Order: sequence, then C-alpha cells, then structure tokens
Amino acid sequence: MSNVSLEEVVSLCKRRGFIYQGSEIYGGLAGTWDYGPLGLTLKKNIMDLWWKMFVENRDDMFGVDAAILMNQKVWQASGHTATFTDPLVECSNCHSRFRADKIDTSKCPTCGKEKTFGEPRQFNMMFKTFVGPSFEGGKVERVGKPIDKLGNEIEDESGIKKYDLMSYDPNSVSYLRPETAQGIFTNFKNVVDSFYPDVPFGIAQQGKAFRNEISPRDFVFRSREFEQMEIEYFVHPDKWEEAFEAWRVQVHEWFKSLGLPEDMVHELEVPQDDLAHYSKRTIDFEFDFPHGRDELLGLAYRTDFDLMNIQKASGKSMEYRPKDGSTPFVPHVIEPSFGVERALMAVLVSAYAQDEIGGDSSTGSGQEKRTVLKLPKHLAPVKCAVSPLLKNKPELVGKAREVYDMLKKDLGAVMWDDNGNIGKRYRRQDEIGTPCCVTVDFQTLEDNTVTVRDRDTTEQSRIKIDEVKFKIDFS
Ligand code: GAP
Repeated sequence: MSNVSLEEVVSLCKRRGFIYQGSEIYGGLAGTWDYGPLGLTLKKNIMDLWWKMFVENRDDMFGVDAAILMNQKVWQASGHTATFTDPLVECSNCHSRFRADKIDTSKCPTCGKEKTFGEPRQFNMMFKTFVGPSFEGGKVERVGKPIDKLGNEIEDESGIKKYDLMSYDPNSVSYLRPETAQGIFTNFKNVVDSFYPDVPFGIAQQGKAFRNEISPRDFVFRSREFEQMEIEYFVHPDKWEEAFEAWRVQVHEWFKSLGLPEDMVHELEVPQDDLAHYSKRTIDFEFDFPHGRDELLGLAYRTDFDLMNIQKASGKSMEYRPKDGSTPFVPHVIEPSFGVERALMAVLVSAYAQDEIGGDSSTGSGQEKRTVLKLPKHLAPVKCAVSPLLKNKPELVGKAREVYDMLKKDLGAVMWDDNGNIGKRYRRQDEIGTPCCVTVDFQTLEDNTVTVRDRDTTEQSRIKIDEVKFKIDFS
C-alpha cells in the first residue's frame, strides 16, 4: 500500500510547479491539468526514457507521429463509434452523473438519497468535432440556395444558401482520438511499404488522447486529456503467445527503470467477460496508488481485429508477404499500452518520502523534518542546483555563476538557486527531487573545490570544480 496520501502529492505538485489545475484562473475545467516547468520536464524525461528503451535501443521498432484528427471511418472500423462507451447513471434527485460500474448505485454518493438511479445508459466517450467551417450560433451564409423564415430552401437569382446552424455536414464529423493505437494501425501498410521489415516488428507512438470521462478523478489518474505511449507489435498468428510473454517481461523492466518498488506492482489477468471488444487476452498491470490499487497500463492480445477491420473498411489488403516466399498472412498484434500520467503519478508516489535529518538521530534532538522526492536520478527534472553560500558577497556570486554556466552547458538541467539561506535551499531542492546541490563558499576561492551535497544521504563532500560534472551526469 502507498504510504503517501493523494492530498500530499497534489499539494507538492502545485506548490513546487509540477502540475496545476487546468484553466484554474477561470475556476478550472474538470479532467484537465496543466504541467508547470518541473512537471513538464519530469513527464518528458519519462517519455524520452520510454522512447529510448522501446524504440531507439531496439532494431525491430519504428516510430510514427500520426495526426490526432483522423477520418471518421477510422473510428467506425475500429468499433469505437459503436462500442467505446461507459455506463452512465443519473440521480433523479440531485442530477449528479456517475459511471455505474464505479459506484454503489443503491445510494447517490452526492445527495445520499437511496434508489434514485435508473438503468444505465451507454455514453460514448469520444469528443466529437467538425472539420472545416462549423456552424455555431446564428446563421451562416454560403454559396447555394437561400432559405425562407422557416428554413426551407427557396430559389432566387443570388444563388446564396443559408444553412440552419444546428445542422452540419455528417461527412465533416471527426473525433479527438481516444487512443493513439489507431494512428499506428492505419500506418501499418505505409511502414511495411517504406521499410519492408521482418515480422515480428513493432510500431510505436506517443501523444495525446482524449476521453470524455463521466467522472474524471484522482488527480491526473483519470483525465479527459492525457498522453499515451503505445506499441503495436505485429507477429505471425502462431507466435502471439511467446511475444505476449516477452512483452510481459519488458513491462517489468520498464517499472524498474521508473524506480517503482516491485511489491507495489501487481498483475491482473482480465477475466474473459471483462475484456475490451478487441482483446482475446489482457493483463492489467496495477499499482498501489494512494486512492487504492488501480490500472497503470495494459498488455493486450488484439489478434488481427484491427488490421482485418481496416482491410474490410478500406478495401486495401493488410496481408504481409514474408521475404522467404512462405504463405502471406495478416499479422496478429500484441499491444503494450502505457499511460504517461499514470506512470508519472506512480513515480511521484514511489519517490515521495518524509524523514528527519541533522541533529542527533539516536535521541532525535535537533533533528529537522523534511519532505524529499527520491526520484531516480535519470528522471529528476533538475539534476543539480548551484548556489553561492552568501548572495551578498560578489566574489562568491561571481564564482558560483562560473560554475553554474559550466555545468549548464554540459548538463542542461541545472538550476541557479540563491533564495533564502542554504538550509532552505536544500529543503526546496529535496522537495523537487534534485539529486545534488553544489555550493560555492570561501574555500572555493582558495582551492577551486565546491561542496556537493547528496539528496538522499544529505552527506556533503568537497570536489574539484572540474570533476563535478562527472559526478552528477545522471543521463
Ligand atoms: N489502445 C488501448 C488502450 O487505449 P486503455 O486501457 O483504454 O487501452 C491504455 O488505455 C492506458 O492509457 C491505460 O492503462 C492508462 O494508463 C491510460 N489511460 C486510459 N484512460 C485514461 C484517462 N482517462 N486518464 C489517464 N490515463 C488514461
């Protein structure tokens, strides 16, 4: 079980510039979040690590970056327009709406009244939008026939048609993609034609996905706008089981690289009755979040469901022709599907700690409480903070600036910090997970050494300025 509360994580994220409520200044927009400077960098570090591990470091992977807006036929063929739904119930007393499978429907969680829910309705979670000029409020004039007061078309010489604004061209409908996966499937043929890879091979994509969740909740865990990192791994139909097992192992390697404690990660074999419409087998990897054990990512065997649907809907063959001349086949697919926000939340929860430092640890006297993010060093948004011991001594400030410029050039993610006294700076850097702090003091001016303080042990050592960068290169 996680030993940090959701409130503590949310509060640290806001206080220290990781994550803010979306549109906060106007009262917010439910299910949306804005990333501040540190959250953005942490998220990027996670995404870059994933890309390196699963795309760059392998020779069987291809990356794509498909458009978010796709032809509506994509979502018809994939089954999303028909089945990408959640069961919605509404309280007849207070009109609060909930996902029926997430609450006890005998009693309304908002007003507490009993038996106020009827039968669930299926609510499609895709955000619908219109491509091209859309008709919003008032009347729009377009070349065509004019209309009378009742909106009926009438002929005149001007050839102007006025459309009723509530109507739209059904062909202009599109959706904000609810998963990145379909941008991969629709490019399967393109990648095969351009690169002719041997099967098995994978196509990977990172990017935004949007779901009109009925009840967004638990901070960024269930949002309406989030990021996914997905792989569709194409295999011979006879080989799906071994590929599934190989990916199961890879997923655990990923958790290790995020620094998640093994005992906080659990595998859930999804029962046949609960499988998504495209899946023959799914393992949900769950994590002990502060709100309870919940899904972190999914590993699914999607069979040839998607490629066959595309083949049917587009009329284009999705068959793969092996180079050795053996029988062509439509590949089957193993899909590891990673959510960035949930990975980020798991990383924050695993790293969050409170301990006591300084003073006498045997008696506790003089000890100071601190909050520290023990982030894996390669993920830390700031690798090192540089300070002059005193900010009103120009000779210390000048030397510290030199050290800062040098480290910044070599390492990039280096922060200048001269706010408050040195103790306060350490506390602040501990809270944002900075692995080490470099302080320039009077001794530096004499022997070109600096104090380097370690975040986890709080130990301080003196290191020659020229050697600092080798000690703190955590890439
Ligand atoms: N292509 C398969 C697919 O999208 P999914 O289980 O619906 O499968 C995959 O989503 C992952 O995306 C989840 O395991 C989770 O990490 C993330 N995810 C899904 N919905 C989310 C939401 N509303 N907010 C944040 N992350 C979400």
